[in-house]
Amino acid sequence: MLISASLDFMLTLSRSMADMSSTTTSPSDDVTESLIRLLDAADVLPGAAELRAHTYDLLRLGDGQPVVDVGCGSGRAVAELADRGARPIGVEPDARMLAAARRRWQDWDFREGFADELPLDDGSVAGYRVDKVFHELADPAAALAEARRVLAPGGRIVLIGQDWDTFVIDSDDPELTRTIVHARADTLPSPHAARAYRSLLLDAGFDDVTVEVRTAVFTDRRMLPMLTGLAAAASAEGAVDRDRAEVWVAEQTRRADSDRMFLAVPLFIAAGVSPTR
Ligand SMILES: C[S@@+](CC[C@H](N)C(=O)[O-])C[C@H]1O[C@@H](n2cnc3c(N)ncnc32)[C@H](O)[C@@H]1O
Repeated sequence: MLISASLDFMLTLSRSMADMSSTTTSPSDDVTESLIRLLDAADVLPGAAELRAHTYDLLRLGDGQPVVDVGCGSGRAVAELADRGARPIGVEPDARMLAAARRRWQDWDFREGFADELPLDDGSVAGYRVDKVFHELADPAAALAEARRVLAPGGRIVLIGQDWDTFVIDSDDPELTRTIVHARADTLPSPHAARAYRSLLLDAGFDDVTVEVRTAVFTDRRMLPMLTGLAAAASAEGAVDRDRAEVWVAEQTRRADSDRMFLAVPLFIAAGVSPTR
């Protein structure tokens, strides 16, 4: 149930990616593969590695300390945390994503599980990281209660993600763009979780809570599926009729083809400490 929105997102991405390519792969066949391709493309864009490194720094882990990456996807952060000397555990509910992580990073510990029911003992980790996941949760507060359970006193938590109503997209039709962005946000269980990180962490009892924002700018054609996925979702929801969505997608495709695509996404990064008292 909790991953249904993510599947919807993946399906729209998958459809739009299939439209862009000339392959005949069925969407249900490669929903997860489409998301992995998109995440892989985003992961190697300028600034992405530095941003991930910043989230690792915020965890302040010592050598060999256990840390969980929740909703780890295909596992890149787990491998990078291991490279830094930590002892990472990746938790992921999507069986196909989990299989991809295990295939890619055979030495590391990947477990099946949900953010609100982690396969970890009480107080067993020194760090908790979650990247681009909270918008998919029906109850982010329940996930943070679970984070409190698994973190040792003094353990650190780091959340990073986007607010789905603050995508900045250049288009000849700003009004339609606004409608598409809002309609896509409305399909998610918690589209505004990122702007609520600070309050959520405080409400969950974390100390020393900090928040910062880094804006990712996407102009690379490989990120076009982010945009076409928004339009596909808005159209599927009935917020925008299919013809208008297609015109918008055609404009964005022209922009991508002529190096005029522009998508800016503020990424919110919050950190906190599990109380020692
Ligand atoms: C956009 S992907 C991000 C993956 C990875 N964190 C990254 O940054 O590449 C979101 C991930 O959250 C996972 N997810 C969805 N619902 C979840 C839940 N309830 N608990 C934990 N993970 C969840 C999805 O399966 C997916 O792998």
